[in-house]
Amino acid sequence: MEVVITPDADAAAEVVAGVITRVLHTRPAPVLGLATGSSPLAAYRRLIAAHDQGDVSFGHASAVLLDEYVGLPPDHPQGYRAFICRELVDRVDLPRERLFGPDVQAPDLGDACLRYDELITDLGGVDVQLLGIGSDGHIGFNEPGSSLASRTRIKTLTRATRADNARFFEDHEHEVPRHVVTQGLGTILEARHVLLVACGAGKATPIGRAVEGPLTAMCPASILQLHPHATVVVDEPAAAGLKLAGYYREAYQNKPRWQEL
Ligand code: F6R
Repeated sequence: MEVVITPDADAAAEVVAGVITRVLHTRPAPVLGLATGSSPLAAYRRLIAAHDQGDVSFGHASAVLLDEYVGLPPDHPQGYRAFICRELVDRVDLPRERLFGPDVQAPDLGDACLRYDELITDLGGVDVQLLGIGSDGHIGFNEPGSSLASRTRIKTLTRATRADNARFFEDHEHEVPRHVVTQGLGTILEARHVLLVACGAGKATPIGRAVEGPLTAMCPASILQLHPHATVVVDEPAAAGLKLAGYYREAYQNKPRWQEL
């Protein structure tokens, strides 16, 4: 796992957007794994700006959603497909028909989850999976206790996550759906590169547990310790709980030129 500590959230977004830009520039048919929530938004804005300046194209790319709420009407603005269209896809040249997500309206959700994992495989797998981290250490919506080998499936959100996400529902916690479909931890681990971004003091505890704590289902993000190519990009406040912060800074500052993130 490589930890990149940036002076502020803006610099973190620059690092994240840089990694995605490189994938878009170098892969013939890149598959991007997209997260929602607040954490990736600044990077998405940078990507949109780069697209507007003609520096990057998504025309040859596909994208897969990390997770989706269950029980919202298909056109609900806080549905994750709507969210990602609004915050990225509709503002760049990624063809909408190449944005994929689990079919949460399907009558047989279990079958839809299986089909989603198959679809990701059929696309050739995810080149770079962007992740945020929940205050309880979740990635995707794999809440504490999730199987470390899990596949895409339905999950029940914890009360803490519903409270965290109430801000997207005008602070009405009861309107945050109780259920979601999320890529499993085993599914996420199959991405060729996982890129987790976390900023602000509120992320210091889950980042400390994920990066330096024990590998445990109690902190689902700790599974990234097993990934051969995982990058964690944090600003200074989010890095506050890292015991080896000095080492991570030194390693990044002295990174060999030929070695990219
Ligand atoms: C979003 C997702 C979640 C969020 C996490 C952090 O698609 O899967 O794991 O990344 O809840 O959310 P923010 O970034 O809003 O703090």
